Amino acid sequence: MERKRVLSGVQPTGALHLGNWLGAIRNWVTLQHQHDTFFCVVDLHAITVPHDPALLAQQTRQTAALYLACGIDPQLATVFVQSHVPAHSELCWLLNCITPLNWLERMIQFKEKAGKQGNQTSVGLLDYPVLMAADILLYNAHLVPVGEDQKQHLELARNIAQQRLNGRFASDGETVLNVPEPLILPEGARVMSLTDGRNKMSKSDPNDNSRINLLDTPDLVRKKIRRARTDAVTGLTFDDPERPEAANLLALYALLGGRSPAAAAQECGRMGWGRFKAVLSDVVVEALAPIQQRHGELMADPTALDRVLSQGRQRAETVAQASLERVRTALGLAPRTPETP
Ligand code: AMP
Ligand code: TRP
Repeated sequence: MERKRVLSGVQPTGALHLGNWLGAIRNWVTLQHQHDTFFCVVDLHAITVPHDPALLAQQTRQTAALYLACGIDPQLATVFVQSHVPAHSELCWLLNCITPLNWLERMIQFKEKAGKQGNQTSVGLLDYPVLMAADILLYNAHLVPVGEDQKQHLELARNIAQQRLNGRFASDGETVLNVPEPLILPEGARVMSLTDGRNKMSKSDPNDNSRINLLDTPDLVRKKIRRARTDAVTGLTFDDPERPEAANLLALYALLGGRSPAAAAQECGRMGWGRFKAVLSDVVVEALAPIQQRHGELMADPTALDRVLSQGRQRAETVAQASLERVRTALGLAPRTPETP
């Protein structure tokens, strides 16, 4: 059986947190053994909202190092930086020209983020989902593992591929590029904020106490969990919609402690908040320790990381270039003439 192609990416904005790990990267580690996997650090997406140019390159490398520290193996998976492969920007332009504006204007994430940026909203923010479609289509990805929040963007990528590209520009019975499927894994798919169990844990929350970053020290992890929002009820449960904090923290405990939800509920169901927070802290600290150790080693050896990213870029470029050529040809752009001697 031919292995399926998988592509995913995370933005290098701020530190990666438990949601990024449990909702995204942890699943990639499993997928790399079964499929032909491409994992990029999407730095071009990170500049669609105001960013600090002094931090971007460092955060891009840190994010790549965290992929590896979480268990992505560059022998199995292709790890690269999005902006290192210019085909992403080129395909984005070609797709821009065949994507209706109103498809982008109704994206939930755009409306949310644009609401915050007001009249400073960039064209890039509106175009964000088209760049994401380019990321995916360039590799002819079959499967795209993402959290639930990215479902709408993936649906857009499918519509662009199917209706706009293949539907209008493919020769009979052919496709220009593959139509991708989302891969949304239910367990741990959504990690909620520590300060409000109804909101997602997010890099963009101004309150750092709302999330546990993968590189937080054990002391900081304990402090954040101690301060995490609770309710006045004693005992932990998964299934009370009125108690989102209890459900979230219990789910984290189950996931990181390698227990089934039922086993976690059995074990902690009757604990008071104080006792439960202490055992949860232990499990989180223990789960993060090996990641932090490996991340430290990787950041201490810049040449090794450079080598991984350069190999990844070369592998990615070969695949991406072939797809870009197919789209150029389908849209009728003049072939590049070979260099004259
Ligand atoms: P972002 O932090 O928005 O760049 O997201 C990177 C990846 O992590 C995406 O696949 C998201 O769906 C996933 N992700 C981000 N935050 C969470 C969260 N709180 N719970 C689960 N997955 C998340
Ligand atoms: N938009 C995605 C997010 O915020 C990141 C992303 C960019 C992505 N390009 C991608 C995810 C391609 C999957 C595939 O999570």
